Amino acid sequence: MSTAVIELTEVTRRYAAGPPALSEVSLTVRAGEAVAVLGPSGSGKSTLLNLIAGLDRPDAGTVAVDGVRVDRLKEAGAARYRREKIGMVFQFFNLLDDLTVAENVVLAARLAGTGRREARRRAAELLGSLGIDRHADAYPARLSGGERQRVAVARALMNRPPLLLADEPTGALDSASGDDVGRLLRELNAEGQTLLLVTHDDALARSCTGRTVRLADGRVADAGTAGAGIAGVRAAGAGDSPGAAGAAGSAGAAGSAGVTGTSGATGTSGSSGSSGSSGAEALR
Ligand SMILES: Nc1ncnc2c1ncn2[C@@H]1O[C@H](COP(=O)(O)OP(=O)(O)OP(=O)(O)O)[C@@H](O)[C@H]1O
Ligand SMILES: [Mg+2]
Repeated sequence: MSTAVIELTEVTRRYAAGPPALSEVSLTVRAGEAVAVLGPSGSGKSTLLNLIAGLDRPDAGTVAVDGVRVDRLKEAGAARYRREKIGMVFQFFNLLDDLTVAENVVLAARLAGTGRREARRRAAELLGSLGIDRHADAYPARLSGGERQRVAVARALMNRPPLLLADEPTGALDSASGDDVGRLLRELNAEGQTLLLVTHDDALARSCTGRTVRLADGRVADAGTAGAGIAGVRAAGAGDSPGAAGAAGSAGAAGSAGVTGTSGATGTSGSSGSSGSSGAEALR
């Protein structure tokens, strides 16, 4: 049995009005697992990912990732945690509009300490495999929704994050582009990286994940059964190689302070101002 990477215990997140977005949610995801999160609109899927990424805090309960209490991290600690551990594909992409496609993607690696040449090489490789390399020098505003989504996926994968949180990563894609994303996610998981994937795309869930968690009205309606499917087999294998997640940790991660800080939905947009300058610096 491999170690838990994500451990949520009795997590409740309440916004000002209405019923809680999440209510007493407990969830464990193990190293090397690939888990799909399904549930109707408003059931708390994005809220769940934001809490795991340390972009939001629970009102009650605990969120731990690799044994670290993410719900207790202060802003700088949370930014470092995201840089080192998390790749995040936001539901609404959160690209930086004043940077080109290539710069958006390269920035994630530069902020994690990757040299410029290597960052550019990896960015070109990812943009190529997602079929958007010809837009490398375009600004996000000029791209279609599906093209932007692929840039967001490339950015999240730049640093080979030990934990990838992806919110509907194929929601804006046609089936061919969706297949490209699915292939990249499978490769990532095959390297031992842990995936938590919010998706309505059954084919993606089937091909990329080994367990399905269902949310309804902010509660876990079904935690799924671990061990089914290809990812479950890998999850078992991951126990033999300590730190499927830990080892990959040295590769750093996307979801840097500047990049994830642009998430307006999570109330951390305050940090995006400073990310502008640190971003420009990192790209030099
Ligand atoms: N910043 C916020 N302020 C107030 N309410 C919020 C906020 N973010 C989310 N909510 C509420 O919390 C609930 C869960 O939202 P969440 O975005 O997690 O749903 P979701 O499952 O991701 O939905 P979708 O499939 O539409 O993306 C919703 O009722 C939503 O209105
Ligand atoms: Mg959502």
